[in-house]
Amino acid sequence: MKILNIFLTALMLLCAAGCKKPAKPKLTMVTNATFPPYEFVSGRGIDGIDPAIIRTIADRLGYELDIQDMSFDAVITAVQSGKADIAASGITVTEERKKQVNFTIPYVVAEQLIIVSKKSFVRDLDDLKKARIGVQHGTTGDLYTSRNIKEPERFANAPVAVAALLAGKIDAVVVDAEPAQVFVSQRQELILLPKPLTYEEYAFAISKKNPGLLKQFNEELVKMKESGELEQIIKSYKEKITAENEDEIEKEARSLWLGIKDELHINFVKDGRWLYLWRGLLITLQITFFATLMGIVIGYAVAIIRSTSDQTGKMKFANVLCKVYLTVIRGTPAVVQLLIIYFVIFGSLDVNKVVVAIIAFGINSGAYVAEIIRGGIMAIDKGQMEAARSLGLSYGQGMREVILPQAFKNVLPALGNEFIVLLKETSISGYIALQDLTKGGDIIRSQTYDAFFPLIAVALIYLVLVVMLTELLGFLEKRLKKNE
Ligand code: ARG
Repeated sequence: MKILNIFLTALMLLCAAGCKKPAKPKLTMVTNATFPPYEFVSGRGIDGIDPAIIRTIADRLGYELDIQDMSFDAVITAVQSGKADIAASGITVTEERKKQVNFTIPYVVAEQLIIVSKKSFVRDLDDLKKARIGVQHGTTGDLYTSRNIKEPERFANAPVAVAALLAGKIDAVVVDAEPAQVFVSQRQELILLPKPLTYEEYAFAISKKNPGLLKQFNEELVKMKESGELEQIIKSYKEKITAENEDEIEKEARSLWLGIKDELHINFVKDGRWLYLWRGLLITLQITFFATLMGIVIGYAVAIIRSTSDQTGKMKFANVLCKVYLTVIRGTPAVVQLLIIYFVIFGSLDVNKVVVAIIAFGINSGAYVAEIIRGGIMAIDKGQMEAARSLGLSYGQGMREVILPQAFKNVLPALGNEFIVLLKETSISGYIALQDLTKGGDIIRSQTYDAFFPLIAVALIYLVLVVMLTELLGFLEKRLKKNE
């Protein structure tokens, strides 16, 4: 053992000294990090039992691990479509899911529990039938409740359901036992009903097309079980969370006295939570800026093709293509377009998600920009083009030098409107697990169970951005007027 250690250390030193590290193959793991102690977002990124187990195995198998956070109902699809190699998300093995993906051997036995408020009338299964029940969308809790109890209210994740329970919007939350215990330990007004609804087993999901990886993981899991390492990882996370919660509760007792100041502290200062907003803001700005540019380029081109075709009868085929583009983009919701571009078009390609979002929003915005600019072109008197042509300009020159500059000035307010819409539209980026501004607020909400401060903060930031953008456009408009 010792010799091996010395050898490894020597090797590492050698590498550090400059020899080129062989690039390790990448292993992409997807999860929904709203499920402590299995997966949660912490200051250090995505942490928890699942990431720890997968990281250990990936290290041993010589993979470079990349962890991606997305909505729970997307993790299995991500593996199936080849977007990810493995899903590790406290996933219960079910017959339906087995049809889509392969499961490793189970690593944990779990159960579904019911969280209620201490003051609630819900005390047993019978009461539950009369209660408003919250679940995380697409989970086994969701499935069990809708099949055996009643139609539940479906939330994006369990912490949001818990927040709704705290706010009195629902009467109970059905969720896996261990996260349930964590949530209850963080809020004194909540309790767990003693009787579990179901028993289940968690396993990792791997694509059916990748039996080799499944075999490797199973072998490693067996070894980790036998050596007690698996048990050790699970235990250490449970202990860590209990320890952290003790001080959370202390805070809460104080919050009765300090009120707003303490709420602000918990939501934004503690654990550097404001960073989620700051980093999210940068991503939102990045997406908006580049998508706007792309939208202008596409919109401009489409508008010119459309009006040239209308006025001269040329470019018929391109005109048809443009019409199809406009119909499809304006006829479908942006969020669906974003998901199609991410999951279908870029399917198994490994493209940066910010780039995917820029492309999706750029293509979307282009359709609206096109019609705005075309409106501007059409509003210019026909005589202008005729005059330009009679002065010897070609159609293209007339367009570029006479028509477009005037059209642009006229449509500026409408374009400004489009950019404002685009900026706010990017708030759906969270659907492809991008941590934009809105998602940043969601992460904070999932950690503090507070809806008010994170949402108001996010709203204020968008508002400030829009006001600044409006000012900027106003300024531009004035400049253009002066140039007349
Ligand atoms: N065990 C449940 C299921 O498989 C819930 C899992 C939720 N996991 C998560 N990371 N949010 O449906």
